[in-house]
Amino acid sequence: MTKDQLKKMVGWAALKYVKLGTLVGVGTGSTTEHFINALGTIKHQIEGVVSSSDDSSNKLRKLNIPIFDLAEINFLDIYIDGADEINPYMQMIKGGGAALTREKIIASIAKKFICIVDESKQVDILGRFPLPIEVIPMARAFIARELVKIGGMPEYRQNVITDNGNIILDVHNLRIVDPIALEKKINCLPGVVTVGLFAERSADIALIGTNKGIKTIIK
Ligand code: A5P
Repeated sequence: MTKDQLKKMVGWAALKYVKLGTLVGVGTGSTTEHFINALGTIKHQIEGVVSSSDDSSNKLRKLNIPIFDLAEINFLDIYIDGADEINPYMQMIKGGGAALTREKIIASIAKKFICIVDESKQVDILGRFPLPIEVIPMARAFIARELVKIGGMPEYRQNVITDNGNIILDVHNLRIVDPIALEKKINCLPGVVTVGLFAERSADIALIGTNKGIKTIIK
């Protein structure tokens, strides 16, 4: 099966975790796009969604799925999203699509985070995929220097401005053996909006698309 077929398989499989009549948190990316298409088939049976990016909102709008403002929501049952890497502790690197900040906010509010990935995203140690960090533009050079001090090789993501008006630094060369500690450390640098390490708030369930079918991991 192609990678996209594996992504489609988990995107549609996530539908069974959606409780009818509730609000659903929706992530960003090509795997989530399959989930959005699946959600379109039951749109009259859910209250609506909260969206993690302008890109996903556009796709949701095309399917006439009602979008709610997270600022007006007190409770969210589930958040469904892809990841760039996931380790055996269900910690993830996210932000390949530059939507990490809104993704992290929604993931923090949701009772359950369901991660949908193809098997190529499974790793033992996070860091092969460059770690995305959303940064306030004026802090770009300062943050880059700080990241070099911790052994990373930051690269400015060309021509990308996030939905929040910031820039992205992708950090190469990291072998993240203690994701929670690194997440805290980077979060403390002034000018960092969000680091794409989802370690403190890891996934609760992972649906992994493999050539042998879907592997479900429950934390
Ligand atoms: C978006 O900012 C990311 O966190 C995505 O969830 C991640 O990049 C996975 O994307 P794909 O599903 O396109 O591989």
